[in-house]
Amino acid sequence: MASLFDTPGFIEAAPASSTRHAPGGVQAPAVVFDRVGKVFRGSPNAAPALANVQLQVAHGEVFGIIGRSGAGKSTLLRLVNGLEKPSSGVVRVNEVSVGELDERGLVALRRRTGMVFQHFNLLSAKTVRQNIGLPLKIAGAPKEAIERKVDALLELVGLSEKRNAYPASLSGGQKQRVGIARALVHDPDILLCDEATSALDPETTQAILTLLRDINRRLGLTIVLITHEMEVIREVCDTVAVIERGEVVETGPVWQVFGAPQHDATRALLR
Ligand SMILES: Nc1ncnc2c1ncn2[C@@H]1O[C@H](COP(=O)(O)OP(=O)(O)OP(=O)(O)O)[C@@H](O)[C@H]1O
Ligand SMILES: [Mg+2]
Repeated sequence: MASLFDTPGFIEAAPASSTRHAPGGVQAPAVVFDRVGKVFRGSPNAAPALANVQLQVAHGEVFGIIGRSGAGKSTLLRLVNGLEKPSSGVVRVNEVSVGELDERGLVALRRRTGMVFQHFNLLSAKTVRQNIGLPLKIAGAPKEAIERKVDALLELVGLSEKRNAYPASLSGGQKQRVGIARALVHDPDILLCDEATSALDPETTQAILTLLRDINRRLGLTIVLITHEMEVIREVCDTVAVIERGEVVETGPVWQVFGAPQHDATRALLR
């Protein structure tokens, strides 16, 4: 994968994950959901949060998951970095089964799958640079390597002039740029975005989506994003999956799904 910020001497958190090429030379998907179900304990009478989810995310694509509130979007995303475990079925990331990872494997997985949140999750007592560099500091990276990396990321997200600012003095869009930079700090190959633009006005949303597209193209990064807004899907995604009450009801290239929606849930979202 191309990386804008390969810093010589920088600690590589985990070996670049397993083979990307299946026998025969066909590239294996970045993420596979194979008949995945999720039932939360303590809610025995509740419907499953996810049922029989079958999806594949190709390397380098922007894959959007759309559905109404409570449909199971965040649960689906959290299965990718092992924050949740499937109750049934298998989730594979770069051909590794997430459910079978031990603690060490999970730490390595989370470094290869950066996450961006709706409400940014920045530390208010730390500056922009400190917020971005924190995961590297925790990982024990040398100070100079952290600084070099943070500077490269600030440039990438267009926020160099705010390097010493505190989150309280930033706009929503600027805060999300910090969140994106922080998510990229370990050179992940997958970026997970949970409603990354839902707290932003339309113009700022547009700017952040443009940034995500730019990062996707320049770094060859696979992006999985969830949203309840059709416009977000239309703007940046290659492929879309529509989720309704824990089930994927429709999936395919965005132009196809939006051009000829097959399911009532998709039509409702398009209205
Ligand atoms: N930790 C949990 N314990 C119990 N139930 C949960 C838990 N997390 C999610 N759920 C339930 O699983 C279902 C799916 O939730 P999820 O957060 O994945 O939905 P979502 O599509 O992300 O919704 P939203 O758009 O509101 O963020 C909901 O019914 C929710 O109440
Ligand atoms: Mg959610």
